[in-house]
Amino acid sequence: MAQCLRLPTEALVLDMATGTGEVAIEICKHHPRVGVVGVDFSPKMLRFGRRKGKFKRFDSRIHLSLGDGRHLPLKSASFDAATIAFGIRNIEERDQALAEFYRVLKPKGQLLIMEFDIPDDPLLGTIYKLYFDYLLPPLGNLLSRTNYAYSYLATSVHGFPSAPEFLQEMGKAGFTSLRIKKLTYGVAKIFRGIKSA
Ligand SMILES: C[S@@+](CC[C@H](N)C(=O)[O-])C[C@H]1O[C@@H](n2cnc3c(N)ncnc32)[C@H](O)[C@@H]1O
Repeated sequence: MAQCLRLPTEALVLDMATGTGEVAIEICKHHPRVGVVGVDFSPKMLRFGRRKGKFKRFDSRIHLSLGDGRHLPLKSASFDAATIAFGIRNIEERDQALAEFYRVLKPKGQLLIMEFDIPDDPLLGTIYKLYFDYLLPPLGNLLSRTNYAYSYLATSVHGFPSAPEFLQEMGKAGFTSLRIKKLTYGVAKIFRGIKSA
């Protein structure tokens, strides 16, 4: 997703639901003069991010900030691009989050949304669903020492709209030039939209 961003040299990027700042770090690696504001509503995730060694390499260019994607504490028309990786699925009020992205982007600013999905190919889709629904939840829960994290992952991915439906939601929020890029046969997808001028 960081590589897909097309940015002016000294751009400012918002990474929403930044978690521990992994995407913000990748953006800095791929775009040497760009600044990133990473926003998340979990203070614990942000604290963990700030402590990571690889974050420290870029801490002059990344600002991590507490905030909710449904009501961003950020000025309108202030970002050249916005990203969100594996976060939109967790926000029930997607229309609110999309409206907030639209508000904080500059005219012609781009929004990239990365989210999990099931491969479109029927055979691959069936095999992947067996893994995703029956193998991953117990294994992931065991390794992460929780009884919910990976069960929630499967449930929330199935609860997310289909790719064409989600693209329509982005269109309703005002985004144009809508596109989807499939990653690894479609197990993840990047949705792109541009704020009209
Ligand atoms: C699966 S993590 C993804 C973290 C990061 N984007 C990454 O790919 O490494 C989802 C993150 O979304 C954040 N989140 C969920 N709902 C949010 C909201 N309404 N506003 C801000 N952050 C939110 C969570 O706190 C969590 O850190």
